[in-house]
Amino acid sequence: MMKLETDRKIIQDSLDAQKTQAERNVLGQFSTPFPLAVDIMKYAKENTVTDSISFLEPAIGTGVFYSAFLHVFGENVSHTALGFEIDPHYYNPTKEFWKNSALEIKNADFLEQQPEKKYSLLVANPPYSRHHHIKSDKKKYLQEMVFLHTGIRISGLAGLYCYFLMLSTRWLKENALSCWLIPSEFMDVNFGKALKEYLLNNVDLIQIHSFSPRRFAIFRCFNYFIYRCF
Ligand SMILES: C[S@@+](CC[C@H](N)C(=O)[O-])C[C@H]1O[C@@H](n2cnc3c(N)ncnc32)[C@H](O)[C@@H]1O
Repeated sequence: MMKLETDRKIIQDSLDAQKTQAERNVLGQFSTPFPLAVDIMKYAKENTVTDSISFLEPAIGTGVFYSAFLHVFGENVSHTALGFEIDPHYYNPTKEFWKNSALEIKNADFLEQQPEKKYSLLVANPPYSRHHHIKSDKKKYLQEMVFLHTGIRISGLAGLYCYFLMLSTRWLKENALSCWLIPSEFMDVNFGKALKEYLLNNVDLIQIHSFSPRRFAIFRCFNYFIYRCF
């Protein structure tokens, strides 16, 4: 198992190194460290029914969460898995890497997809792309979608991760567990109001985790949020 993760990490590092920081900012291409993905997955395992899991990753990169999923739940766990990745730079090698696994990967914009079935476990580190990287017609479409699906009006200053979180629940079964590694900034600023309202009223928020600067210093400005769908 660890060989699989070692090989995945080599691919991740090599793909990241081929892009500039500015390019990676546009699509929010910053990967989750494997130990952190494992911590989140352990929590998920304790709080989910493990007989048959349908796993969804809306912004999969090279699949660190899927790797952590197999590590924590065991490679023989009965499951299906679907991931989306918009950028062929990450999508092509990732699809090749996971070709002998149960993971299906689509080269598509998650925010423009319609769910064909529903999932029981979602784990995501979505793109943190700032609002000025979202084209205005796309932003308008996303704001309308959020209103349609949640009844909440979202500020045009919200980052892409807010749309990912609020539009993902329609992919989830009742009682599904959804885990999100996102920046904490939305809790203190005006544009975060819609997301706070959503987490308080539209789902059953069960855990907010802040990182110890000693363990994951790089993530000190992030939290992960875990909720159940109702
Ligand atoms: C923050 S990275 C996280 C990758 C991986 N989940 C991880 O934790 O390492 C976000 C990923 O989402 C991809 N992405 C950005 N916008 C997307 C979209 N609209 N639909 C699907 N994937 C997207 C980026 O290319 C990037 O690989």
